[in-house]
Amino acid sequence: MNQKKLQQQIKQLAADKNALLIAHNYERDEIQEIADITGDSLALSIEAQKTDKQLIVFCGVHFMAESAAILSPEKTVLLPRADAGCPMADMVTAESLRDFKKQHPGAAVVTYVNSSAAVKAESDICCTSSNAVSVARSVEAKKLLLIPDRNLGSYIASQVPEKECICWDGYCPVHDQLKIEEVQQAKADHPEALFMVHPECQPEILALADHICSTSGMYEFAATSPAKEFIVGTEMGILWRLRKENPAKEFIVPSPVLICPNMKLTGLKDVLRCLETMEPRITVAEDIRVKAKRALDKMLAVPRD
Ligand code: 13P
Ligand code: SF4
Repeated sequence: MNQKKLQQQIKQLAADKNALLIAHNYERDEIQEIADITGDSLALSIEAQKTDKQLIVFCGVHFMAESAAILSPEKTVLLPRADAGCPMADMVTAESLRDFKKQHPGAAVVTYVNSSAAVKAESDICCTSSNAVSVARSVEAKKLLLIPDRNLGSYIASQVPEKECICWDGYCPVHDQLKIEEVQQAKADHPEALFMVHPECQPEILALADHICSTSGMYEFAATSPAKEFIVGTEMGILWRLRKENPAKEFIVPSPVLICPNMKLTGLKDVLRCLETMEPRITVAEDIRVKAKRALDKMLAVPRD
């Protein structure tokens, strides 16, 4: 079956089942094309919570669909590829976090949403790349444990010098690979370009940035900035919408490593199959869900950066 036909079939079945199709900004172009909503982690959790639709097909990675299931247990949340995980989320477990907390009594645990429900359940508050600094500032404690991304953690620490920040040693294997020489080369090749970058990149890379933001923050920056060229320091899936929404502007990816294999797993056939079979469904044990929801709700109550 050709791509257009497959897309039509998915749209029809989604309409018949009154499903909301959600896709993260890194998903394949053909998936983003048929999604009702595309966005960053924060926007997608909010949309999944506020929709009246009882069926959500979440094209993204496991922790994102899990956040939707935590926030809206009455809804059916489907993740078309059960094997779409996030290696960074797997770098911390609830048990290892409990040990870490014991070593730092009195510290507040601020956990990036790129984490499991069990880890969120051990946390005081969650954050995403688009609200991390505001979340850190909103916490009363003077000492923060920033879990699990050391790069996002060091970015937060640089923005909230009034707090003592201790970072977990996790990282995104995609963003962490971007090299300073690659960014310098892109800047030399495109001297007029502005460099926008995701805070999961290393601190030396962030130091070269004109703008540090979440994936959705990049759409906003590209649309509102008078610049005509942008070097994009994040996963390549973001290019589809950047180019569609800004046809007169040029977007340069400085490195071929910026592809998240997990985000690329979901294909149209997977989306169709999951709507047909209503599997794989994401659920969270109630005792963990309630505790994890507390940390997500606290985050959602914080005004955005
Ligand atoms: P955003 O919240 O910016 O969409 O980032 C999610 C993510 O996984 C980045 O690697
Ligand atoms: Fe996880 Fe990195 Fe992929 Fe984002 S880009 S989902 S942090 S592995």
